[in-house]
Parts: sequence; structure tokens; C-alpha cells
Amino acid sequence: MTAIVLYCRPGFENECAAEIQEKAGWNDVFGYIKLKKNQGLVEFHLYDAEQGDTLLQKLPLKRLIFARQWFLTLGEVIDLPDYQRVEAISEALGSEFRYEELRVESLDTNDGKALSKFIRKLSVPLRQALRKSEVLAPKQSDEYVQGAAVLHALFFSGQQVQLGYSYASNTSPHPMGIPRLKFPSAAPSRSTLKLDEAFLHFIPKAEREERLTSGLNATDLGSAPGGWTYQLVRRGMMVKAVDNGPMADSLMETGQVKHYQQDGFKFRPSKKNNYWLVCDMIENPIKVAKLMASWVIDGDCKEAMFNLKLLPGKGRYQQVEKGLKLIKDMLSEHDIWYEMYAKHLYYDREEVTVHVRALGKR
Ligand SMILES: C[S@@+](CC[C@H](N)C(=O)[O-])C[C@H]1O[C@@H](n2cnc3c(N)ncnc32)[C@H](O)[C@@H]1O
Repeated sequence: MTAIVLYCRPGFENECAAEIQEKAGWNDVFGYIKLKKNQGLVEFHLYDAEQGDTLLQKLPLKRLIFARQWFLTLGEVIDLPDYQRVEAISEALGSEFRYEELRVESLDTNDGKALSKFIRKLSVPLRQALRKSEVLAPKQSDEYVQGAAVLHALFFSGQQVQLGYSYASNTSPHPMGIPRLKFPSAAPSRSTLKLDEAFLHFIPKAEREERLTSGLNATDLGSAPGGWTYQLVRRGMMVKAVDNGPMADSLMETGQVKHYQQDGFKFRPSKKNNYWLVCDMIENPIKVAKLMASWVIDGDCKEAMFNLKLLPGKGRYQQVEKGLKLIKDMLSEHDIWYEMYAKHLYYDREEVTVHVRALGKR
């Protein structure tokens, strides 16, 4: 089979499938979908196998909202023997291609998680064997050569593996697209991981010093008890925290936070020196999208990071698209240059994180 395999949050397979079909179609690549519900996996089978590689290069993974990671299959699922699995995988790979990196993966399900010990144990000899046969490059480096490929080995069980590849320049840096973040014990809520992941995902490492740095002003709408504010404070920013609910004392004691017990839809900073707007209000996604765009248009923030909370029921992909279109239309109407990306991040649940950055006026 030749398919693009996409990982997503279990339960979001339909959204992930609808999106890859639509966005592949924009690139004149067509195929059909195979998925199993709640497995966090979607297969996009290509009508023309040759087009798989083209799509992997042409469609930026960061343009896909619901896919955490992807790869193009190399052949069928392999049935492995009980012993000498490494040899069986090496043999299936042959020696024609060379990969920069190996990702040994499993599904984001209970069965997948149960395989983690097996995967850890197998990864070492597999990596060694592939390096020895020069299928895998000698050592990983931070910078890849143009066209460098990542080898994926997706284990469904100890007996079955699907091999595939993605391009290092267009792949997630994390196995299965899942970053493992440590919950900071000083943060007042687990939501903190969402903004931490969002900053890591959307802001390139080389630019964090400038765009996520001390001295910047930030506003947090729907801030209580302060998990998101914590991420801004820990990066040295001064934060206006807007919520009728109480903020954690530990944050107030830093002297970096001013709490406004006001409606997030009405609040605006008094001066035009606010850099970040973050928003985690549980509100209608269209209302939130409109609010975010209006802050950018009015020059009340340069960058916005926010969640669009998805309403229960069908059409979650359409809900996100509608919110994004509204923002695009509003910013375009006001001649604003911008970049905007959205992702269903690992720590997101029934919500999608969006990042908008104003780049100036046309
Ligand atoms: C998911 S919680 C935010 C959690 C917070 N980001 C954290 O990390 O601790 C949503 C918050 O939005 C607030 N909220 C909802 N609607 C609001 C509004 N119109 N104005 C201000 N806050 C609002 C709620 O009071 C609630 O505290």
C-alpha cells in the first residue's frame, strides 16, 4: 500500500481525515481514507502512489491542524517473528535509502502506551543495526542537509510494524508528534502545559529570545487561576490578567501581575504597548475569533495565542475553519499583513490553539 499515515488525537480521526483530503486536493493529490475510530490514526491512500512523496514535500505539516505527525508508508505492514525482529526490519528496509534519524513509535492509545517498554528495548539494537548497515546516518545533528529523511517504525504490537518516512524539514521533531512536557509544580493549573506547548510549537527556537522575553507586556483573557499567566511570568513578562475568578497568590506576589476583574470581551489595555494577547476563555469560538482579530486590527497586540473551544457535535473541522476564515477576512479588510497557524496540540482537548502574528500594514 502507499498511504500517508497521520497521527492525531484519538477521537479526532474524522477531522484529520477531512482535512488531509481537502488540503491534498488543493495540491491535486487524491486518495481515499481508511481509519479506525479512537486509534488516533488516519491512512490517506493515494490513487497515484507517485504523488505521496510530492505531497510530503509540498504540503507543510504546520498547515495541517489535526495531524500531529505524518509519514509516507514504505510497503505493507510487516509481520515480525518472535525473535530476530531487528534483522527482519533491516531486511525489509534494504539498503537503497539512507535516513538521518529513526523514530520508533506506537499509537496514542492504551494498547500503544503498553508497548512503550518494548519500544525502548528494541530501539537501541535497531538503531545500532541500521547505523552499521549505513541505512541510518552515524549521528544526529541539529541541522539537516536538504532532503534529509526521517525513518518511522510504527509498532501496532510486538508482531506488527509499519515502516515509512517523512522529510526532516517537514516533520514534527517529536516521536508521534507528542512533546513530553513536565508540569511545573509552581503553576496553579494543568492548563499551563497548553500555553507552554503552544510557545514551543509556534515560536521558532531562534526567535524565542526576542518574542518571548522579559520586559514584554502581555494580557491574559480568562486567566484564572493563572496557568497561562504563569508561563508569561516565568518568561519575565508583565501581565494584565483578566478574569472575574481569583488568581493564585503565588503569581500576584511576583509583582508582575495586575488582576482585572472584568469581562474579557470588554477589557482593553489603556496604552498601545501590549505585545502578547493570550486567551483561554471558554466561550463561543466565533466570538473569540472576532475578538482576537479586533485586538490585532486595533494595534492592542502584536501576537495572539488563543484557544478556539470546539462546540460538541459534528463539524469540528468546519468550526475551526469558520473561525480562521473570519480572522483572515477581518485582517485582510484592514490591510494587515499577518501569519496565522492553528494546531490541535497534544495538551489540547476539545479545542484548537491558534497563533496570529501581525507583520505590518499593506
Ligand atoms: C479554562 S479557564 C482558564 C484557565 C487558565 N488559562 C489557566 O491556565 O489557569 C477559563 C476561564 O475563562 C474565564 N472566562 C470565561 N468567560 C469570560 C469572560 N467573558 N471574561 C473574563 N473571563 C472569562 C472563566 O472565569 C475561567 O476562569
